[in-house]
Amino acid sequence: MYDMSDDIKEILISNDEIKKKVQELGKKISEDYRGKDLMLVGILKGSVPFMADLLREITIPCTMDFMAVSSYGNSTKSSGVVRILKDLDFEIHNKHILIVEDIIDSGITLSYLLDYLKGRKPNSIEIACLLNKEERRKVNVNSKYIGFQVPDYFLVGFGLDYAEKYRNLPYVGVLKDDVYK
Ligand code: IMP
Ligand code: MG
Repeated sequence: MYDMSDDIKEILISNDEIKKKVQELGKKISEDYRGKDLMLVGILKGSVPFMADLLREITIPCTMDFMAVSSYGNSTKSSGVVRILKDLDFEIHNKHILIVEDIIDSGITLSYLLDYLKGRKPNSIEIACLLNKEERRKVNVNSKYIGFQVPDYFLVGFGLDYAEKYRNLPYVGVLKDDVYK
């Protein structure tokens, strides 16, 4: 029987490692935002598993919202074009915003979103990303909360997709080369 894991060359970050890291991040965020009006903004669809887990490790009251932006399409290279497909449902004026994202790669998506959301005058705005591919950065973006630094491989799992698939893998892995062909 075909299983998604047959397409994986290597597991880079296990589910256990992710779990531990998300607990740490949730604890840190709960301390940093104590007494503040916190709203998590997940970027669809890649942030969904990370968002769902992080949310439940945060022990202070908070709200959540989502945005959808265009990113990679079905290729493994960034187009550099950011388009907003779904905007926030809620006002962010005077709130403390934490953008939740699966991975920062070139930084183009988040740098655009930061500017866009800053225009609505939130009290503060920071980023929590599960993965950071620092060496691929084209524009400067700083994430306050980072799960793991990762090398420049194309990764799938825990929200990350290839052609919209593999998001449901419980770990972060590297695809076998023949999957791209
Ligand atoms: P950036 O604008 O280049 O930083 O792109 C960020 C977005 O690209 C992420 O939200 C992902 O959707 C996607 N992305 C970047 N690197 C990878 C990867 O290795 N695997 C899957 N998606 C990726
Ligand atoms: Mg994404």
